[in-house]
Amino acid sequence: MRVAEAIALRCGASLALVRAGALLHDLGRGRTHGIRHGVEGARRARELGLPEELVLIIQKHVGAGIDPENAKGLGLPPLDYMPSTLEERIVCHADNLVDDGAVIGSQEAYQDFVGKGLERQGQRMLEMHHELSEACGVDIDEMMPSIDLKGHSPCSELI
Ligand SMILES: [Fe+2]
Repeated sequence: MRVAEAIALRCGASLALVRAGALLHDLGRGRTHGIRHGVEGARRARELGLPEELVLIIQKHVGAGIDPENAKGLGLPPLDYMPSTLEERIVCHADNLVDDGAVIGSQEAYQDFVGKGLERQGQRMLEMHHELSEACGVDIDEMMPSIDLKGHSPCSELI
């Protein structure tokens, strides 16, 4: 959430939506830790009556998005798993930049994808990194050292 907040603050995304999405993106892990946790989380979020824009953040956060062909191959229901709004992309990308509670750079995140045999997804993650960095006016990797994961929110003064 701290990483997502920092990006959102910098590029003018909805902080409330990004924070809620970052906190709830793994809601589906209550049911499964597999690739389906995005769709399961979205289903649960809908049951709870959460706003659709938040539901879609949950549904689309897995990997660097899952394209329709890949989703079909994975046996996922025919839904949209590609993050498209600014807030959907921020939560998805922030998730890729955090590993076991530590912030990692985009190149390390890319290597993580490659190590899992997911080079195409890794490339897509890098594209998202560049697009979001452009929206922020700074390379997101350069913002990371100043983020205090366990301390104050970068936007606490705004709340
Ligand atoms: Fe997840």
